[in-house]
Amino acid sequence: MVAGNYIYMDNAATSCPKPKEVIDAVCHHLSTLSANPGRSAHSLSLEASRALFNARQTVADFFGAVNSRNIIFTLNVTEALNLAIYGILSRGDHVVTTSMEHNSVMRPLRHLESEGVIDLSVIPSHTDGSVDMDGVAKSVRPGKTRILAVNHASNVTGTIADIKALSDIKGKALLLVDAAQTAGCLPINLQGMGVDLLAFTGHKALLGPQGTGGLVISKGAEQIMPIKRGGTGSNSEFEQQPDFLPDRLESGTANGCGIAGLARGIEIIKALGIENIRSHEKKLTEIMLEGLKKIRRVRVYGPLDPDRQVAVVSINIEGMSPSDVGYALDRSFNICVRTGLHCAPSAHRTIGSFPQGTVRLSMGLYNTEDDVEKTIDALTWIAEHG
Ligand code: ALA
Repeated sequence: MVAGNYIYMDNAATSCPKPKEVIDAVCHHLSTLSANPGRSAHSLSLEASRALFNARQTVADFFGAVNSRNIIFTLNVTEALNLAIYGILSRGDHVVTTSMEHNSVMRPLRHLESEGVIDLSVIPSHTDGSVDMDGVAKSVRPGKTRILAVNHASNVTGTIADIKALSDIKGKALLLVDAAQTAGCLPINLQGMGVDLLAFTGHKALLGPQGTGGLVISKGAEQIMPIKRGGTGSNSEFEQQPDFLPDRLESGTANGCGIAGLARGIEIIKALGIENIRSHEKKLTEIMLEGLKKIRRVRVYGPLDPDRQVAVVSINIEGMSPSDVGYALDRSFNICVRTGLHCAPSAHRTIGSFPQGTVRLSMGLYNTEDDVEKTIDALTWIAEHG
């Protein structure tokens, strides 16, 4: 779908356009439900509380959480990952992660490592972005490894990780999954996949507004500590943070209108069927990969297999910088892509595209086959004419 006059190929950064139903849900909430949930006993506050509760239930059902209390709303996936990392880890813990992680995982872990709090093993992934399962299995230290942190799909190559298999080799460590690139476009079930902590964002494939996201907590990870404390509307007679979920981990007024939009996005996905969304995005990826193969001077990164990646494809054109290619796509063809390191320098080191990065083409629910064909034509022209 053309967003305005543009072909939008930057869905890994945020999905665009947002469905009218999501925009309507945000506006409806703002205009009719803007009272503060959980803070007062008047009718409007109670209605706002109900809306928040229903949204929490929608998210819990969608990800197969044990209870809606185990959904913690956050500003984005970065905040959810920080909550998981700082809320679980303590001095002396060992953490295993992969070289394909985004800085939202890498930076908090490197911070704790540099402070001498944790011992960190970063397992180099394969050059197609896939996890070195043997490397991970050998690095897990029984009784010492507290977290195994992996992305469900890379934001650079789209490579999908086998989460169930990782769950089978994690031992007693908690499996923390960064679902930034998969929530809303790949089926996720916490219990079926053996995930302990799932961090998601609302503004990508879940079709919600920016400023939404969350952490889904399994039964075995419920001991997680807060990273912020404050007003919850509950236990107000005490100056200590309530101990129960979600209040232990959620302080301050919630992003009610954003969360209403997020819940509406999830309902749209459920109505469409996540398998149908996956099929559509797989088809777009297949056409993109086939088309790119025919362009001389183009190097494609990742598994080059629509079954093994989400609709994210990273490329470079020989002799051109990613930013020059992105500039030409934008200014001459009205095609929006992201170029550079995508906040994942270690992933680019892994696939061999550091420090210049790549041109990332990321498709979403509202892209069409025609969008992909036009992008391939534009890249063919750019590769020939520079
Ligand atoms: N993390 C987002 C991306 O990969 C913003 O573009």
